[in-house]
Amino acid sequence: MQSPFWNQNRAPVQPADITIPKTIAETASVTSRLMEVLDSNNHGNVHGGVIMRMVDESAAIVAIKHSHHGVVTARIDRMDFIAPVFVGEVVTVYCALNYVGRTSLEVGVEVTAEKPRTGEVRKVVSSQLVFVAMDDQRHPINVPPLLPANDDEGQRIERARVRRKRIKRIEEELGEPI
Ligand SMILES: CC(C)(COP(=O)(O)OP(=O)(O)OC[C@H]1O[C@@H](n2cnc3c(N)ncnc32)[C@H](O)[C@@H]1OP(=O)(O)O)[C@@H](O)C(=O)NCCC(=O)NCCS
Repeated sequence: MQSPFWNQNRAPVQPADITIPKTIAETASVTSRLMEVLDSNNHGNVHGGVIMRMVDESAAIVAIKHSHHGVVTARIDRMDFIAPVFVGEVVTVYCALNYVGRTSLEVGVEVTAEKPRTGEVRKVVSSQLVFVAMDDQRHPINVPPLLPANDDEGQRIERARVRRKRIKRIEEELGEPI
């Protein structure tokens, strides 16, 4: 019987060819976890660090799948905590590439919290992270280009490209990271 979760008959994975562009959808990831007492802080909310770890790990999956290499987190550009999360809620981390440079990859992240008994969902965190793909000698290595599948994706990539350029320009002007 066919698995409802994955295609058992899919073609074998081909060796990575970094000249072949990939779309955003090819590597997008969704990760969920039920928040438990051990995830909480002194106020009874879920500890921010628990969510940060989930975000970093889930976003790294996207970067690894796109680059076919191990990656390191080079930067967390933004981590906006919009609303608290409570024990007993299901945290879901949605990650997709925003932009790909020569060896770096920017991943956009949205996190929701769901009350599983009622299905009520709210957005709790928004973030974007930069990873760098590494070869076996731990040197940055080139990654495949990112191919927009439609106009929306084209705009997402272009917005990220412009944002990265502006950040770089401001840092050059200031002579330090912002
Ligand atoms: C990230 C790291 C590999 C960059 O090394 P580096 O010698 O500066 O590499 P390069 O100058 O060749 O830059 C490689 C790419 O990373 C990008 N980059 C490097 N530092 C960055 C930063 N702080 N923010 C955003 N992008 C960064 C560069 O713009 C470049 O992108 P491109 O190839 O797409 O143009 C290095 O600083 C490192 O190993 N940091 C520690 C990472 C780590 O331990 N993370 C936590 C655990 S995973």
